[in-house]
Amino acid sequence: MGFSELFILLFTLHSLLAMASRQPTAPKSYLFSEYIGAEDNNVKFSDVPINPNVEFHYILAFAIDYTNSSSPSPTNGEFKIFWDTHNLSPSQVSSIKTQHTNVKVALSLGGDTVRGKTCNFTVSSVDSWVSNAVSSLTKIIQEYNLDGIDIDYEHFVSDQVTFVECIGKLITALKNNGVITFASIAPFDDDDEVKKK
Ligand SMILES: *[C@@H]1O[C@H](CO)[C@@H](O)[C@H](O)[C@H]1NC(C)=O
Ligand SMILES: *[C@@H]1O[C@H](CO)[C@@H](O)[C@H](O)[C@H]1NC(C)=O
Repeated sequence: MGFSELFILLFTLHSLLAMASRQPTAPKSYLFSEYIGAEDNNVKFSDVPINPNVEFHYILAFAIDYTNSSSPSPTNGEFKIFWDTHNLSPSQVSSIKTQHTNVKVALSLGGDTVRGKTCNFTVSSVDSWVSNAVSSLTKIIQEYNLDGIDIDYEHFVSDQVTFVECIGKLITALKNNGVITFASIAPFDDDDEVKKK
């Protein structure tokens, strides 16, 4: 796939994300986002200083569509929670949001590794992945009273066309169902991972 096609695909994805994250109320002008909860490091929401003058997003890392075995296998969009649920529980989410009205909490999909192995974006079919992702993520997002999702896949088994379709459809469905109010996509400096597909 050539550079211009890649550019168009990425542009399409960004446009979808921009549409999905349009909000009815004007957001504060500055946004600060911080990943939290990966690798069981015992970090709590209250360990991070919150500037009251910015929109502040915590991003729970990560929800992953893999089994949690010593040799994890992909579950085609059936996400489960891999962040530190002891320190970042539903009641701790409610509490930090009540204390700070500028705080929103999202979860991030993917990440670099699962149980120490590369976490690969792996899809059986677009429709089945999207359907599984919408139902499993809706459950988690409602249980934790979350506001948005972030996309942080860094390694790909399925190709970029599949990635853009899956993520675009997922965000559109969650947004249309009123499950999330915003979505973001993580910048990732090694674009060879995407280009080679
Ligand atoms: C995954 O399994 C390990 C080892 O059994 C366990 O310590 C960990 O809490 C599990 N994580 C999840 C997300 O279920
Ligand atoms: C992801 O793909 C890489 C490269 O093909 C492979 O080495 C790795 O084991 C895969 N990850 C998992 C969790 O299966």
